[in-house]
Amino acid sequence: MPSVFIKTYGCQMNERDSEAVAAQLVAKGYSLAGAEAMADVILVNTCSVRDTAEQKAIGKMQNLAADVRKNRPNVLLGFMGCMAQSRGKELLDRLPDVDLVVGTQKFHRTGEFLDSIFAGSRDRICDTDEEAGSEAAIREHILAGNSAAKSPSAFVSIMQGCNQHCTFCIVPHTRGQERSRTIEDVVSECRDLANQGVKEVTLLGQIVTSFGRREIGTQNGLSAFVQLLDAVCEVDGLERVRFTSPHPKGYGDDLVDAYRRLPKLCESAHIPAQSGSDRILKAMHRGYTRDRFLTIVKKLRLAQPRIGMTTDIIVGFPGETEDDFSQTLSLVSTVEFDNAFVFKYSKRRDTPAALMVDQIPQEVIEERHARLLQEVNRIASAKTHAFVGKTVEVLVEGLSRKNSARLEGRTRCNHIVVFEGEPQLAGRLLDLEIDQASHFTLYGKALQLAAH
Ligand code: SAH
Ligand code: F3S
Repeated sequence: MPSVFIKTYGCQMNERDSEAVAAQLVAKGYSLAGAEAMADVILVNTCSVRDTAEQKAIGKMQNLAADVRKNRPNVLLGFMGCMAQSRGKELLDRLPDVDLVVGTQKFHRTGEFLDSIFAGSRDRICDTDEEAGSEAAIREHILAGNSAAKSPSAFVSIMQGCNQHCTFCIVPHTRGQERSRTIEDVVSECRDLANQGVKEVTLLGQIVTSFGRREIGTQNGLSAFVQLLDAVCEVDGLERVRFTSPHPKGYGDDLVDAYRRLPKLCESAHIPAQSGSDRILKAMHRGYTRDRFLTIVKKLRLAQPRIGMTTDIIVGFPGETEDDFSQTLSLVSTVEFDNAFVFKYSKRRDTPAALMVDQIPQEVIEERHARLLQEVNRIASAKTHAFVGKTVEVLVEGLSRKNSARLEGRTRCNHIVVFEGEPQLAGRLLDLEIDQASHFTLYGKALQLAAH
């Protein structure tokens, strides 16, 4: 059977989709190639959220195609994911060496498509159609860790799509309308994972707080998403539950209260703010004000004083004045995020913001990006340094990605800690004393296995 290599760009959803495709192909008898140079099939899973992400994937495919045309003409090349969805057949026309284009509702059909190309029954395939029920098809796991041990941590996709239609965002177009799995289905996947030794799950979706809004609805004052959190936290064997990405408007009191009630729910929240200016938030169609955002932060810190908080910010949205930007800077200083992902606004086709007349010059975007990043780094560094001398509990993930002579783990607040220890500790909860910190990473020494 052929071997396959999947190169993934973009977010955790994409990582999860790639893992599910890999698991599906392994079940069909394919092997996973350790490197693209050895693979019979090379799939590039793509991101469309910013133009640079699309350019990277296209550049990668052009390089692969040049190599394949010259040295290995039988290798099959394919695009999957968001750019495959939004550009579709255009990719086949533009890149004659590409054999396969798999849209975001067709990941589970990748194996069939490859079979028919290998069998010669079809030449090149592009499928970007909608498919009912595809949100429940991303289910199989590989659980490959970054060391000999299996990863103790897994992603679980709970929903697909987004109906919010923020004016800058291409995701509703690439991922489609919101579709949620059932609570039973998600819980049964989590149970299977726990039975395989997984200790931590991260529930994934483009807007997880909208999970089951239409299909399940609110019961006893609990949104469908909080009902799901309750059910997942009951799975025996799981120690930690996380989720990403929520929408600020989804932080009702039921979700804030879940942080108080559910001991497995980690004290960590990634809440995308996008801007600190009400005028820009409105033009972005975000559905909240600066004040509402700050209220959510306050409530969460009241529920869990040590909660780790991260965010996404866009600088240079059309019409952003120096005054709007200074409100974003002040939001970041006020909240003191543990980290903020700062993005330069990128014009996306078929989005309302792309047609707005007052686009911001690139040099202004660059300058604001640098200024905001400096503030983000200053705060993040102060936050990590405050951990020095303290004891934290980590879930050991395996060998450190930065230094394979050491291990790394994650705190409940989502900080990465690098420390010395035996690789067999992977999957264990461990108490560590922090003795050093950089901007975003902590360094520590092991004290003992955490009491659980
Ligand atoms: N809720 C989604 C958001 C996806 S996009 C999720 O996490 O799955 C991730 C981040 O990219 C957004 O929060 C936003 O800050 C940024 N982003 C989205 N569209 C963008 C654009 N056109 N230009 C720059 N950044 C963008
Ligand atoms: Fe995009 Fe806004 Fe949804 S950022 S994914 S349209 S919440």
